[in-house]
Amino acid sequence: METHNKNPVSASLASLVFLLYSFAQFCYAANDTIKQGESVRDGRSLISGNNVFELGFFSPGNSKFRYVGIWYKFDSKALVWVANRNMPISGRNGVLRIEADGKLVIHDGNNSLVWASNVPGSSNDSTAAKLLNNGNFVLTRNDSIGDTSRALWQSFDEPTDTFLPGMRVPLSSKRGEYQPYRSWKTPDDPSSGNYSLGVDPNGGQQIVIWDLNKRRRRWRSGHWNQQFFTGVPFMRNNASTLGGFHISQPDENGTMYITYTASTPDIYRFQIGWEGREQQSRWNPSKKEWDYLQSEPDPDNECELYNFCGNYSTCDRLDRRRCICLEGFRPKSQAQWDARNWSGGCVRKIDLRCPAANGTSVGKAKPDVFKKSRCTKLPDLATLLSSEGDVDACRTWCSENCSCIAFAFIPGIRCMIWTGDLVDMQYFHQRGSLDFFYRLHHSESDHGRKISNLAIVIISLVAAAFLVASLWLLWRYKTKLNGLSAVSSKPCCNDDDVAVFDVSKGKSKEFSTDLSGPADILKDGNQVHGPELQNFDFSTIATATNNFFEGNRLGQGGFGAVYKGVLPGGEQIAVKRLSGHSGQGLEEFKTEITLIAKLQHRNLVKLLGCSIQGEEKLLIYEYMLNKSLDNLLFDEAKKSELDWKTRLSIIEGIARGLLYLHRDSRHRIIHRDLKASNVLLDAEMNPKISDFGMARMFGGNQNEANTVRVVGTYGYMSPEYAMEGLFSVKSDVYSFGVLLLEIVSGQRNNSFRSFDHTSLLAYAWRLWSEDKVMDLVDPCIRDSCSPNEVLKCIHIGMLCVQDSPAHRPKMDAVMVFLESETATLPMPRKPTYTSLRTAVEEEYVLDGQEIVSSNDVTVTTIVGR
Ligand SMILES: *[C@@H]1O[C@H](CO)[C@@H](O)[C@H](O)[C@H]1NC(C)=O
Ligand SMILES: *[C@@H]1O[C@H](CO)[C@@H](O)[C@H](O)[C@H]1NC(C)=O
Ligand SMILES: *[C@@H]1O[C@H](CO)[C@@H](O)[C@H](O)[C@H]1NC(C)=O
Ligand SMILES: *[C@@H]1O[C@H](CO)[C@@H](O)[C@H](O)[C@H]1NC(C)=O
Ligand SMILES: *[C@@H]1O[C@H](CO)[C@@H](O)[C@H](O)[C@H]1NC(C)=O
Ligand SMILES: *[C@@H]1O[C@H](CO)[C@@H](O)[C@H](O)[C@H]1NC(C)=O
Ligand SMILES: *[C@@H]1O[C@H](CO)[C@@H](O)[C@H](O)[C@H]1NC(C)=O
Ligand SMILES: *[C@@H]1O[C@H](CO)[C@@H](O)[C@H](O)[C@H]1NC(C)=O
Ligand SMILES: *[C@@H]1O[C@H](CO)[C@@H](O)[C@H](O)[C@H]1NC(C)=O
Ligand SMILES: *[C@@H]1O[C@H](CO)[C@@H](O)[C@H](O)[C@H]1NC(C)=O
Ligand SMILES: *[C@@H]1O[C@H](CO)[C@@H](O)[C@H](O)[C@H]1NC(C)=O
Repeated sequence: METHNKNPVSASLASLVFLLYSFAQFCYAANDTIKQGESVRDGRSLISGNNVFELGFFSPGNSKFRYVGIWYKFDSKALVWVANRNMPISGRNGVLRIEADGKLVIHDGNNSLVWASNVPGSSNDSTAAKLLNNGNFVLTRNDSIGDTSRALWQSFDEPTDTFLPGMRVPLSSKRGEYQPYRSWKTPDDPSSGNYSLGVDPNGGQQIVIWDLNKRRRRWRSGHWNQQFFTGVPFMRNNASTLGGFHISQPDENGTMYITYTASTPDIYRFQIGWEGREQQSRWNPSKKEWDYLQSEPDPDNECELYNFCGNYSTCDRLDRRRCICLEGFRPKSQAQWDARNWSGGCVRKIDLRCPAANGTSVGKAKPDVFKKSRCTKLPDLATLLSSEGDVDACRTWCSENCSCIAFAFIPGIRCMIWTGDLVDMQYFHQRGSLDFFYRLHHSESDHGRKISNLAIVIISLVAAAFLVASLWLLWRYKTKLNGLSAVSSKPCCNDDDVAVFDVSKGKSKEFSTDLSGPADILKDGNQVHGPELQNFDFSTIATATNNFFEGNRLGQGGFGAVYKGVLPGGEQIAVKRLSGHSGQGLEEFKTEITLIAKLQHRNLVKLLGCSIQGEEKLLIYEYMLNKSLDNLLFDEAKKSELDWKTRLSIIEGIARGLLYLHRDSRHRIIHRDLKASNVLLDAEMNPKISDFGMARMFGGNQNEANTVRVVGTYGYMSPEYAMEGLFSVKSDVYSFGVLLLEIVSGQRNNSFRSFDHTSLLAYAWRLWSEDKVMDLVDPCIRDSCSPNEVLKCIHIGMLCVQDSPAHRPKMDAVMVFLESETATLPMPRKPTYTSLRTAVEEEYVLDGQEIVSSNDVTVTTIVGR
């Protein structure tokens, strides 16, 4: 009965249909529901009230197996749902019923369980199941039959391969990709096949077909622009009539739902076929067959296959070349490309100036440009910027962030950016193009190429101008640098000419020969010679930081504030501005230049250059996206971003950086102020040790030194250093131990002291001795971490904070412990220093010399010895 048929019919026929319809409603009313204790045997079925859907037992195609499913009453071959798809029943004695415990179950002829509805907290409530008019089979308590809002279970929540109008597909970035639809294996076998269909909420919502066999995407719809999916040409042109899709506003949990409402009374279905093709079809009642409206991916259009043309390449079905590299790109393999094998994709002709990780790009080089690409299915794997604003804000954001290689501003989606390779692009020959802009080296721009003839002339002119400018700057510094005796009259960053304090030149040579032996120095990205540092013009930096605008302030390092800045070329920098009038900063400034200029390791922050003008002393560093470790680690909201794997790699990175300072660099260096706020994190969460203002260099044979100035941070200072001013590599090891325990526990050593009168170390020792070390672990990683790794780390941490320097391991041993699965670690002894500390602190305060004693500020004091 096609009661929904709107074809013109005569009046009498219409009334007849109406009568039949009413009769059908009456007749079948009792047959769309089963109640507790009732069953549907093989051969019987339930029929929805509108006579459209039928639920019962069936055998697909030539299969001899029996399955329980839902199909259309008028086309029993069009299955929309299968209950026991992976558990076929042999023989015709299967039965579907509601058990005494309220569950819906299927038993085979031997009365063994084949399938059961998954009812949460199954009770003994009396239940009933009803086949609704939209094809949903709903289990509820018997006082609310058919009420989906009170469903205990419903077939729409466990779909097989068909999306029906009325279904809701949840989309939330928390859930990520969601693949509820799974193809049949073959037309005769409804068990789970090779393809799935679902949604990807990231970077704009889209529908995706996955090829589970090849573990990659097969097709995607393009992003939803509030009206249609932008990568489906059919929808673009037919949006008004065939749109039908709707994505709801996020609910309280941030979940949105895709729904489909047919704009005509026709019957629609969307099915992911066994051959990996999603088909939208509409029942044609007069021809008694399905009209196939569209197939995805279209079998006649290879451009629809996911990333058919490879990376950085656009597919154009009307172009004989088929795949075309983006401008500024060339085929990765020309031979394969000519042979019409496009899978290798394209690569850049000229590398970008960004990312600035390559130290050669600092300074005044021309910024990258953005090239417009028209009429495309936008690349996949976008990120949505939640920010407000317009296309200009989007462009600015992208040009300021080196990891952003393309952006688009699309009405209904807003600002999209791409940080990875540009994949799966398609050219549409249609109106209403979608444009995006991608980053190119400036010489690849139209403008860049036009002037390329002039380039040589200009370069010579610029070089000459630069020479003059440098000479002038040199002269200017010469006259201004009276106060900087150590740095003398040379540009501040020229490391060869900076006097090394504390250590004579002769001694420096000694350690460099000392270290030239072991080959492993050069492993780990170590480099014996430091990079050339650049002298920046003070006004350039002032402009870059918007005149040291408060809003650009990143934090307060030892002896100066740190600001974020953007150089004219778009490169982001961090600028440390030494407090102008404090004579104290000068020594640290010299130290930092002297030391950092000579050091290069991927776990040490990189100094790009410096600037001195009168009282103003600036150090310019690479910018660290994730700021300092304490920012994340001690922030309740953010600490969960640091999962155990990340934390372990941070611990290892710090250890490697410290080992390099202690052993592998040209000079033996003691940092003296290692703490969470001096560990910076880059975009990939790689830790970089910063703030060398207090570091000291050591002679090769010198193992311990004595200082009259005790500098460092409470809570990280080793007892012998805090009390006697003795420092050695082992005092850094102590700080490392404290830091390690902080990373594992997510607690500040200091904050502990303030509320509990005990320190993190004392607490750790107590748990250690009571064999409850796991209690120390940060609750937000406790369940996901590997207990063995965590225990090993805590053990290492306990060893590093031993009272006596002799009982602490050196960093090379720490590295071995961290990396080895089998190393036997010595047992730590009970630390006692912690109980002394309050007294120690008071002593400092009474001393009254330049003390800053807030929780995390570096302190300096003179110990009278
Ligand atoms: C529908 O229910 C009636 C009465 O309960 C029963 O006689 C009839 O066989 C059922 N029809 C089907 C198709 O199960
Ligand atoms: C019932 O069990 C017997 C023995 O285990 C088996 O041979 C037979 O095929 C089963 N029948 C059905 C319908 O599953
Ligand atoms: C449900 O009923 C069964 C048998 O009548 C009984 O054993 C069971 O404890 C009941 N469960 C609940 C949750 O009431
Ligand atoms: C639900 O089932 C119970 C037990 O079978 C019965 O007593 C009750 O009347 C039913 N309620 C409704 C609304 O049908
Ligand atoms: C739009 O829909 C009509 C049928 O409703 C179809 O014939 C036409 O091809 C569709 N347009 C596109 C571009 O697919
Ligand atoms: C949101 O999540 C909570 C907890 O998971 C749940 O109880 C609530 O029903 C959800 N709200 C909606 C609208 O789904
Ligand atoms: C599904 O994967 C299997 C195993 O790789 C393969 O043999 C089969 O041909 C695939 N089926 C389809 C429809 O691609
Ligand atoms: C196509 O090119 C890729 C590399 O670009 C190569 O791995 C693959 O074997 C090639 N396929 C054919 C059929 O030549
Ligand atoms: C950095 O740039 C230089 C010169 O352009 C180049 O030779 C080198 O390979 C680059 N290094 C990296 C890691 O990209
Ligand atoms: C740069 O882009 C990355 C990747 O999207 C993002 O995580 C980071 O926050 C951006 N940097 C800045 C300074 O906004
Ligand atoms: C293409 O880009 C994807 C995503 O970034 C990457 O995984 C893949 O390796 C790239 N393929 C080639 C051939 O470079």
